[in-house]
Amino acid sequence: MKILFIGDVVGSPGRDMVQYYLPKLKEKYRPSLTIVNGENAASGKGITEKIYKQLLGWGAQVVTMGNHTWDKKEIYDFIDNANKMIRPANFPTNNPGKGIVYVNINGIEVAVISLQGRTFLPPIHDPFSVADGLIKEAKQRTNIIFVDFHGEATSEKQAFGWYVDGRVSAVIGTHTHTQTADERILPNGTAYLSDVGMTGPYDGILGMEREAVIQRFLTSMPVRFEVPKQGRAQLNGCVVTIDTKTGKAHKIERILINEDHPFM
Ligand SMILES: [Fe+2]
Repeated sequence: MKILFIGDVVGSPGRDMVQYYLPKLKEKYRPSLTIVNGENAASGKGITEKIYKQLLGWGAQVVTMGNHTWDKKEIYDFIDNANKMIRPANFPTNNPGKGIVYVNINGIEVAVISLQGRTFLPPIHDPFSVADGLIKEAKQRTNIIFVDFHGEATSEKQAFGWYVDGRVSAVIGTHTHTQTADERILPNGTAYLSDVGMTGPYDGILGMEREAVIQRFLTSMPVRFEVPKQGRAQLNGCVVTIDTKTGKAHKIERILINEDHPFM
């Protein structure tokens, strides 16, 4: 079974890339499951119900979130009904929404888990111990477990990957918006990538207007970050191939689409 994962969709340039390339990626890779990180899909921060439904309409089967989950206030009204959306499972226990979802693909269940790191991010529950509980729960139903680990620090993501090696099918990092080239299969069968990268503006800085970000560094003063409306765009993702019986991954391939790396 192949799982296609598309990294952090940023604003309308990112959404346009998903709409245009997702059908082409599905034709090329024939994934059984497509997961999209949508936490930056609405103007770079958060998600709306309309965009959540658009992502599903374009071919996503699960939408994962992260530290910007609550940025668009309307999410409080729809997250509990958005049964294909997950936010980090280690958020405070009284938060709305959920951190794990099961998808049935022709009789085979896949568990998708969202977790968030705690290094250089707000203090929340320990993702390692929360993962232990969720993996135990998921194993009652399936061996195929996919984790989106939303984190800033590569060290925390690597530590998590090794910690769960052999217990989950894949640990794919999100949040930094810069794709890393360290994809591998860990010795006990977990596919690992520190960060899958970002789908959105190609000439901004992490998806935002670069002039504002440069000004922030030059002046250290508060600056409003916006997603550029025009310009070149990119899509970042990966495909993981998993043995459906054992849940172990045997291949991971990065996807990078931009003008310097055209889609073939
Ligand atoms: Fe994030």
